[in-house]
Amino acid sequence: MSTTNQKSQDARPAAPLEGKVAIVTGAAQGIGNAIAHGLAAEGAHVVIADLHGAEEAAQALPQKSAGIEVDVADEHAVARMAEETITRFGGIDLLVNNAGLFASLVMRPFTEIPLAEWRRVMDVNVASMFLACQAVVPHMRERGGGKIVNISSATPFLGVPLRLHYVTSKGAIIAFTRALAKELGPDGINVNCIAPGFTLSAGVLEHDAVLDQLSRAAVSARAIKRDQQPEDLVGAALFLCRPTSDFVTGQTLVVDGGLYLH
Ligand code: NAI
Repeated sequence: MSTTNQKSQDARPAAPLEGKVAIVTGAAQGIGNAIAHGLAAEGAHVVIADLHGAEEAAQALPQKSAGIEVDVADEHAVARMAEETITRFGGIDLLVNNAGLFASLVMRPFTEIPLAEWRRVMDVNVASMFLACQAVVPHMRERGGGKIVNISSATPFLGVPLRLHYVTSKGAIIAFTRALAKELGPDGINVNCIAPGFTLSAGVLEHDAVLDQLSRAAVSARAIKRDQQPEDLVGAALFLCRPTSDFVTGQTLVVDGGLYLH
């Protein structure tokens, strides 16, 4: 009995993502950066794709990694991101669509949101995922499969007011995830979504007003009475990237300490 257990334990890979190539967008800081470190700790080569600070962030990772400066809302830049990843690492297995505008957005009634700001939020938060998937999926198909994890938010479930563009964009990501999962299932590509609660990321910590308005309310409303940190998202992201979740697709996993329950 103990011999069998010992054997099955030995057969388990020490690093479940050994040799996998991952792109994490918006990973120079915050939630994306925590996920990038989690993936690298499990053996993945991680490409940190960000507007700025990508190279420095990649140098802090333990595995052979790379930083690519990219605006995820720019079609040509996103195509280049995929090409550069192929050139450096020979393929793409994992894509975490994390880059997004959140804390920098002023909370205000929807009648005061300028159309240009609405459109930029849709571009950075939603069109970016469409572009990244268009650029990356052909390479995943060549590898015979892959995993895509999209970062949404718990706000569309809660109907949080005063950031209508943001909440709408995050709701769109859940719909995008479901429909794309059906489209890519036959290719062996899983598409899932994580919906974080209010998280003390670097972006949030830079905005005192956001912290003041949301932090205490979030802690008192959730089952687990503490602040949410970027590291709290890593376990869910790793689960959705590991082979152990091969039969899970089209799902949205809310990670918010038990505020929204579904
Ligand atoms: P953050 O502001 O700490 O980091 C975001 C990163 O994305 C930055 O490094 C930034 O340079 C990059 N980025 C922004 N626009 C970009 C663009 N056009 N192209 C490339 N990179 C770009 O953000 P945080 O809080 O870690 O958020 C990460 C994701 O998690 C976002 O999608 C956000 O909406 C989502 N989220 C965050 C929550 C929170 O409370 N912090 C709650 C729920 C979801």
